Amino acid sequence: MELLVEGKGTLQGEVEISTSKNAILPILIAALLSEEEVCIHRVPEINDVEIVKKLLKNLGASVSKSQGQLSVKSFISNIFPDYELVRQIRASLLLMGPILATRKTVKISLPGGCAIGTRPIDLHLKGFEALGARIKLSGGNVIAQARELQGNHIYLDFPSVGATENLMMAAALAQGTTFIENAALEPEVVDLANFINRMGGSIHRAGSNLIKIEGRKRLHGCTYTPIPDRIEAGTYMVAAAATGGNLLINNVIPEHVKATSAKLVESGAKVEERDKSIRVERLGPIKPIYIKTLPYPGFPTDMQAQFMAYLSHTSGSSVITESVFENRFMHAQELMRMGANIKIEGRTAIVKGVGCLGGAQVKATDLRAGAALLIAGLMAEGTTCIANSHHIDRGYENIVEKLNGAGAKIHRG
Ligand code: UD1
Repeated sequence: MELLVEGKGTLQGEVEISTSKNAILPILIAALLSEEEVCIHRVPEINDVEIVKKLLKNLGASVSKSQGQLSVKSFISNIFPDYELVRQIRASLLLMGPILATRKTVKISLPGGCAIGTRPIDLHLKGFEALGARIKLSGGNVIAQARELQGNHIYLDFPSVGATENLMMAAALAQGTTFIENAALEPEVVDLANFINRMGGSIHRAGSNLIKIEGRKRLHGCTYTPIPDRIEAGTYMVAAAATGGNLLINNVIPEHVKATSAKLVESGAKVEERDKSIRVERLGPIKPIYIKTLPYPGFPTDMQAQFMAYLSHTSGSSVITESVFENRFMHAQELMRMGANIKIEGRTAIVKGVGCLGGAQVKATDLRAGAALLIAGLMAEGTTCIANSHHIDRGYENIVEKLNGAGAKIHRG
């Protein structure tokens, strides 16, 4: 699958942000914590959600959809999710928490997802061990077993989003109280905690670095609407600034995109925050800036690639340091095919601005790299052809329609 992007257009008008991919994936998985029906509103039509739906069905749950609303009625009859599904998406690792908590044993193959360097799972496993599980690794699979999960004090060496979520789900049905110290602060972690609490869970202080979870015997059904996607919003914000446009982005929680807003302002764009929307406009030149990715509320690693595309068009040199993932500069190579001047030194990229990018044949290597190439394509002179565009559809609902609705000219090839 490919996308053909015609360059040199400006984005104008309005765009509506969908539900957060990184919130809805763990929330759908957490529906496994109860055998009662859970109803999720505003479910985005993205490929990662399709894979999670298949995983839930593969485990024995029934999943039905009507008008953007997804109902999950869980019964876990299979504790070994299908490898073909698991390998497609890193978030499948989050199945461990609910399966272990409800069935006391889980077997899962090491998961896949975006190719962005080594992504170990040691923090998840150490946490499960602290809750009383025995862990075995065999033939590319992880097996976790426990007679009963028992609350404990868990310290995370790094505030991993996935480990915090996995352990929160397991601890929600453990005996006694669990503390997760150095927990991730991401809004998606808070949303998951709010969802579990709606199911009758007792999770306190999610969004701080010490989360307290009082285990419950059982959880019940509920309805829930997850938060809007801050990375999708950030991507449209950068696209608006990159094209020298003027775009109103609706259904955004401005607090969640503070780091993106700050960096856009520093680079010369105008960002106007409203209650649930943001307007981004750029009239002057793009100024070079310094960026370092960090856990929330720091600058998100999931916005790094889009900013690299944007900054390739400044009048000076920008420096981008990737401190969250080991190898997340694959898009640099593709941007250079479009004329960008980027030098990678370890975890730092030096982006020397060039007058103009030129359309080229490029390849999306992962989800956000694909978004970066779309932004570059919109800025470039001529047409850009992005191969492997299925990566983009993993996380952006109706991206072609949304951008074309704001004046872009993009076709699916
Ligand atoms: C989540 C997001 C992803 C985002 C990332 C960081 C989802 C579905 N995905 O991924 O979009 O880029 O947060 O904001 O929500 N690590 C370990 N050991 C572990 C776990 C993680 O060393 O057991 C390391 C990772 O290799 C990485 C860092 O911690 O270098 C951050 O990973 P983590 O926060 O766990 O990211 P994910 O939950 O995989």
